[in-house]
Formats: sequence, structure tokens, C-alpha cells
Amino acid sequence: MNSEQLLRACQIENGSLMDSSFQSFLNDNYSTSRIVIMVDENTHDYCLEYLLTSFDQLAEAEVMLLPVGEENKVLEVCFQVWEALTEYGVGRNDLIINLGGGVVTDMGGFIAAVYKRGVDFIQIPTTLLGMVDASIGGKTAIDLGIYKNQLGVFKLPLRIYADQGFLETLPDQEILNGFAEMLKHALISSVDMWGDLKAIITLDEMKDARRIANSQAVKCQAVLDDPLDNGQRRNLNFGHTVGHALEGFYLDSLVLSHGHCVALGMVVESQISFAKGFLTQNELLEISTTVCRWFDIPVLDAESFDSLILLMQNDKKNSTNKILGCALKGIGNCTWNVEYSTDEIKNGLKYLLALK
Ligand SMILES: NC(=O)c1ccc[n+]([C@@H]2O[C@H](COP(=O)([O-])OP(=O)(O)OC[C@H]3O[C@@H](n4cnc5c(N)ncnc54)[C@H](O)[C@@H]3O)[C@@H](O)[C@H]2O)c1
Repeated sequence: MNSEQLLRACQIENGSLMDSSFQSFLNDNYSTSRIVIMVDENTHDYCLEYLLTSFDQLAEAEVMLLPVGEENKVLEVCFQVWEALTEYGVGRNDLIINLGGGVVTDMGGFIAAVYKRGVDFIQIPTTLLGMVDASIGGKTAIDLGIYKNQLGVFKLPLRIYADQGFLETLPDQEILNGFAEMLKHALISSVDMWGDLKAIITLDEMKDARRIANSQAVKCQAVLDDPLDNGQRRNLNFGHTVGHALEGFYLDSLVLSHGHCVALGMVVESQISFAKGFLTQNELLEISTTVCRWFDIPVLDAESFDSLILLMQNDKKNSTNKILGCALKGIGNCTWNVEYSTDEIKNGLKYLLALK
């Protein structure tokens, strides 16, 4: 990725697609090309019609229906799509449009990046998480068995269009899923943004275009600073060391979304930051209160702590058998590659449970 591509891929257009450059982008570049639109079952039902009926250029587009959900972000589905693309004669000058949440933008991006060594693609995220996080930064990926995002490539989309109108049909749970990442973006980068988000009292306020743009800017800056995720960008993992372990732990028993687990992970990792002397007690309290307003604390007994720690030891962010994560150095300031001791983690988990 060169810097020009990076900058272009971070110029996200928010607001109605009708008022965006989408139409002229298609006219100027793909008037004689085949266009393929990737959807899942929900974006097929809730989002596709708007696209097909609003833009003449899409009247002849091929629609590829991907099965919904993370469990389908797998190679078997990609195979079927690559075969279909081949059958339709899709070539290097054609365009793939990914219309969906993070599953569609991650897998659609991967499919486009690998097919014929790369065809152009654009992202039209339709979930809050997709708009503030997954569609940005050029990480395309699929899962391999229990390993999330194990297969993937860095490949930037040509454009990202985030039309907040799509959020109207998104279930509340999914809004919260994205809001957790917005809280994370604020905590790692900006006291002002944090102040703004912590004052929110309705789900509608989370969908606000200005707030979404602020959150996107944090992700974009991290990507611009560290396109290949070798340093600074790792601050985006705040809440994820503990969050991923909780996600794995509850996989079969209780349905907790990724965002919910990250939100709880942020409380534990904030407590660890406090224990290390990086965060004040007031800051910790502020973070815990804000997270608990939106996210329930699950039932978890102290005997499960060891299982969670084992999951953290297997986290792919670790380079040795030490558990590495992020720590807040005050609200709005984050650092990565911080070692967590098992005692620190257990104390952080105890703190979380005491908030229940
Ligand atoms: N590439 C990255 O940098 C990055 C960053 C964060 C997350 N991710 C990935 O993103 C994925 C999670 O994304 P997600 O939370 O958007 O999940 P998702 O794509 O599964 O979407 C969540 C649910 O919302 C439905 N949906 C989507 N848009 C809708 C709409 N407008 N109306 C009604 N329903 C709608 C989907 O069908 C799905 O059921 C994970 O696979 C994760 O690994 C990638």
C-alpha cells in the first residue's frame, strides 16, 4: 500500500449514498464493467433494494448471497464465490461492492483481494461496527476453524461509503456492538470524545454521523500511522486481550457479542492500568460506570479465571508465553505490549464481577 492509496482509503464518505460520489465513481470508472454486489441474508433483505433502485448502473449487477454470521466467514464460502465469479467471467477491470457488516466486508475484501490477484472493491458498511471499524484499514480476513481472522491479506478498498440510513434496520444489540468500539476509540485517543460518548443516553445518539466520523478518524489515524500493524495500531487492541478470552469462554454457553466482550475487557484492562499506577481511581470508576450502563456483567465464578488466563496465553498478540495487552495511561492515552501478570488479571476480573 502506498501513502496515496492509504489516504484515499481513509477518506470515508458519510451520509446518504445519493449525495455522495458513489454514482459518479461508478460512471467514471465502471460504466462498461461487470459489477458484483456481495450481501448476506439480512443486507439482501434490508439494504440491497435501495442500492438497486437508486443507481441505474447497478441494474445489471450480479448479486452474491453469502450465508449470514461469523461461522460462515470461512474458506468453503470463498471457494463457492470464486467459482461463481469465474463462471460470470468477472475480470481484473470489474468491481466488487461489499454491502454488509464486518463479516461481508472482511470476507468480500478477501475474496476480491485474492481473485485474479486482486480486483477493485469498495466497502459499503451497514452495521455500526462496520462503519467505525471493520471496513477501514485494509485488513481482509476469514477464519480457520476456531482461529479468528487466521487467513487474510492487507488490501485497501478503493472507497468506503458509510450511509447511516442503513442503521435504521440494525437490531439494538448490533448498535451496542459497534458502540463498544466507539468507546474504545475514545478511551485510547481523546478525552473530549470520551466526554461526549459517556454522556449518551439513547441508542439513537450512537448513530449520530458526527460521532461516527470522529470514531472513524481514530481508526484511520492508527492505520495511517502504522498500516501493517507493527506498532502504534496495536492500541486498537485495548480491551481485546481480556475481551477475546471472554468471547471464547462464552462461545458455547452464553451469547455475548464481540462488542459486549470488548466492553467488559476494557473494564478489566482499565483496572489493570489502575493497578499499574497509570490510571486514577476516578478515571477507572468513570469507565466502569459508563460500560455498565450499557453492558451487563455475566455470571462468572472465580474457578473460571484459570480457563480465561489459558485463553489469553494462546492469544495471537503474544510473542512469548507472556500475556501482553494494552494499558491506558490516563483517559485518551494508550500504550501497547504491556505485560499482564496472572494476579493482575485475576484482580481485574474480580473487580469486574464486584460491579455486578
Ligand atoms: N477488518 C477489520 O479491521 C475488522 C475490525 C473489526 C471487526 N472485524 C470483523 O467484523 C466482523 C463483525 O462485524 P459485524 O459486527 O458488523 O457483524 P456482522 O457482519 O455479522 O453483522 C451483524 C449482524 O447484523 C446484520 N446486518 C448487517 N447490516 C444490517 C442492517 N443494515 N440491518 C439489519 N441487519 C443488518 C448481519 O446480517 C448480521 O446478522 C467480525 O468478523 C470481525 O472479525 C474486522
